[in-house]
Amino acid sequence: MLNMTAKISLRPEQLQSFLDSLDVAETLVYAVFSRLRDAYAPAEDSLFIRQAEGCQKLKLRPVALKGGIQLQAEFQFGPKTFHQQYPLASDAPPLAEGLRNFAEGTIFTSRADYQFHWTAAGLCQIAEKPPTKSRSSLSHNRQKAYLLSEGEAIPFLVELGVMDTNGRVSQKRYDKFRQINKYLEFAEDALRHFPKDKPLYIVDFGSGKAYLTFALYHYLIDRGYSQFQVTGLDLKDDVVAFCNDTARRLGYDRLHFEVGDIANFQIDEGSPASARRPDMIISLHACDIATDAALVKGLQWGCPVILAVPCCQHEFFHQLKAPAMDPIIRYGVTRDKQATLVTDASRALMLRAFGYAVEMVEFITMEHTPKNVLIRAYREGADRRELFINIKDSGYRAYREFLDLWGVGPTYLELELARAGLLKD
Ligand SMILES: C[S@@+](CC[C@H](N)C(=O)[O-])C[C@H]1O[C@@H](n2cnc3c(N)ncnc32)[C@H](O)[C@@H]1O
Repeated sequence: MLNMTAKISLRPEQLQSFLDSLDVAETLVYAVFSRLRDAYAPAEDSLFIRQAEGCQKLKLRPVALKGGIQLQAEFQFGPKTFHQQYPLASDAPPLAEGLRNFAEGTIFTSRADYQFHWTAAGLCQIAEKPPTKSRSSLSHNRQKAYLLSEGEAIPFLVELGVMDTNGRVSQKRYDKFRQINKYLEFAEDALRHFPKDKPLYIVDFGSGKAYLTFALYHYLIDRGYSQFQVTGLDLKDDVVAFCNDTARRLGYDRLHFEVGDIANFQIDEGSPASARRPDMIISLHACDIATDAALVKGLQWGCPVILAVPCCQHEFFHQLKAPAMDPIIRYGVTRDKQATLVTDASRALMLRAFGYAVEMVEFITMEHTPKNVLIRAYREGADRRELFINIKDSGYRAYREFLDLWGVGPTYLELELARAGLLKD
């Protein structure tokens, strides 16, 4: 170890013994390396260096994962980042090659902070300072979200062309990769409602090319859910055929796709999952009132979990009439945004009227799509057979009064709920 006031200069061949002296498995808290050096000297065939090429910043931290504590590297390329896990050891490539190839940085350990930079003479100058971070933050990492990482080929991502067989994410599909990871964070949270060893039936309405449906299946398998069934539904028969083929190639035998309209979807009495109603419905970016059709199904089945990311909406656009709101609704662009907000807020009110705890959270950032609100509704501990409300109930009145304020008449959601016997007078 360096003494507390030391500054030392090391030659490249001395760096590994310096790292060995840090006892990183026990002491590493965090490290950040910036700017690849001009004298960047990659070891031959280094996957790490291939990954780091063009990277502006590299951040390292130990994380508690299911296989034990690992070193998580976060590579930053402009606004994009990707993550990769390595064994937590002093010769792990991001530490050993990172120290050699980045111009400056700091390694924070529980014993000391080591600030380094490379001199023009090719020496690594290291200053040791009193520690500013402690290992206690590792317990927080245990709560960290599930993450698909690069570097290891994940079959469904390879099959869908997001990754190559070396586990490298295609630059063009990076947004999709990030969206999938973000989605799995929400899925993980929602799935906490269900025991892993009990039957679980999930329906994904408007599944489209089903990146997220396949991701969910991968997650369920990876997390040890043993008795689940997933159905994807979409209007497009060619897309459904593609998804069923893909599921077959992947050996995802508890996932199947059907052609159909959400509003007409019935639980197939002949299917193995029909013994019970769906436990969770998902509707991501299904168009206009298709989201409402999905909500009706979820309410009809008393699903404990409903996840919906609405897409375009048209139903309220022409109806909005609220003199006090004229500065917003007189222009097409702001009227459209307002109609979207009123639609989503009213959906949340209706779900609350049915006893759901509802949150609206950001699904993915605006750079992907402006339709980024996830309506997340959880119904806990309720009896699924008693699922209807009365128009005199305060929850429903709150819904109607809100829409009256905006000049919106009977909605598709109300009419369909009434037709299904879930909204009674
Ligand atoms: C934008 S894609 C979203 C796909 C996927 N859920 C996602 O988020 O990646 C919307 C899909 O919903 C399907 N869809 C729209 N309305 C539908 C309806 N009423 N019934 C079934 N599928 C519908 C469309 O065919 C399309 O494939």
